[in-house]
Amino acid sequence: MSKLIIRGGTPIRGKLAVHGAKNAVLPILAASVLCDNGVNVIHNCPNLRDVTITVEILRYLGVRVIRTGNTITIDARKGIHGHIPQYLMQELRSSIIFMGAIAARNHKAKISMPGGCELGPRPIDLHIKALRELGCDIKEKTDYLYVNSRHLKSAALTLPFPSVGATENIMLAACRADGMTVVENVAKEPEIVDLANFLNAMGAKIRGAGTSRIEIEGVKHLHAADYTIMPDRIAAITYLCCAAATGGSIELTHTVPEHLETALSLLAQCGCRIEARDSTVYLQAPKRLSAPSEIVTAPYPGFPTDAQSLFLALLTLADGTSVIRETIFESRFRPAAELAKMGASIALCQNCATVTGVATLQGAPVAATDLRGGAALVIAALAANGTTEIDNVCYIDRGYESLTENLTLLGADIKRI
Ligand code: EPZ
Repeated sequence: MSKLIIRGGTPIRGKLAVHGAKNAVLPILAASVLCDNGVNVIHNCPNLRDVTITVEILRYLGVRVIRTGNTITIDARKGIHGHIPQYLMQELRSSIIFMGAIAARNHKAKISMPGGCELGPRPIDLHIKALRELGCDIKEKTDYLYVNSRHLKSAALTLPFPSVGATENIMLAACRADGMTVVENVAKEPEIVDLANFLNAMGAKIRGAGTSRIEIEGVKHLHAADYTIMPDRIAAITYLCCAAATGGSIELTHTVPEHLETALSLLAQCGCRIEARDSTVYLQAPKRLSAPSEIVTAPYPGFPTDAQSLFLALLTLADGTSVIRETIFESRFRPAAELAKMGASIALCQNCATVTGVATLQGAPVAATDLRGGAALVIAALAANGTTEIDNVCYIDRGYESLTENLTLLGADIKRI
């Protein structure tokens, strides 16, 4: 298992283009199996472990996939079988999106439960309930789901919670269900809009993505599309936090500033000078950050749960005390114990963390607990005095393209061993 060795204390300074969005490319790659006449060309695909695994799943299903740099071409004209084995399904959470994709292309699917970062229980009950309402027959037998979508039909659904993954599975399955499917209380994340834009580029008829009500009119066939993935908003926030934590300054290009709104306003509250124009965001950090009184995570357009660990790390050095409330996942404060090894002062109770800023952090041996928790440790290590060793870097590799190279270009003293 490789490790990162970071010697903290140098300000992060420079310019960086943000890579394509992990949580957009994964469902879009799954959705590409719906195309039965033509070859999809998808640009700005980030070079991430989760993308590599998703390409492996596509190939296992019988799809021809060619990857050249950040462009992936996908030829699913020959059709797919519907079986994805446990060793692939368990590698990532978004493998579950293949359930809707296979239901729309093939009448039978046999898939195991998905994997994904441990953030508390991550059930798929909303996915299963919604697909059953769309006419899928789903049986759960010894760790596998047996899905029969021969009688796929449109429906009027309401999600009890705006689940990102469940919204994506419904969009994929409903694309090929006769008639109009209407779904209320869906997720409004930008990645949902990107998936809808890709499906519509293939000839689907989806309206309302980005709002809490989506209409999907079933179509018989989907043709090929040439599509560019949106920028990764969580990677953008991560690099902004690296500069903010080290008294540095950064110019991020290839971003969508409106996707970063809640994080940018919090960083401004912390005393950072922020400028956003077109697809560029510029941040200049203060000498010492001020602590915002409260941060509450919420479904988009609220403050993103994926940025919660990043700010947990950032605020360990702020002047004052902040309360962070996590409302989406049950246990997403696991990085707190690792940050405490570096001298952070974080008190946890149920779904709240009270962070009292300290003057300095000390480098220490720590271990990533999940993708964004690992990124949080990188932020803390860049700001700490001395050297930090971060284990379980495979978690970080799931969501950040060329992190070590990018941070080195931005002035960090970081090595991978
Ligand atoms: C997606 O996960 C993202 N992953 C997550 O990003 C992100 O944190 C999350 O959305 C919320 O924004 C991908 O897109 C690959 P949910 P997902 O369904 O779809 C509960 C990262 O770091 N729930 O919106 O799994 C669930 O337990 C990752 O990039 C059910 O109870 O999120 C959670 O508490 C981490 N039943 C809440 O809803 C279900 O059937 C939100 O889950 C589904 C979800």
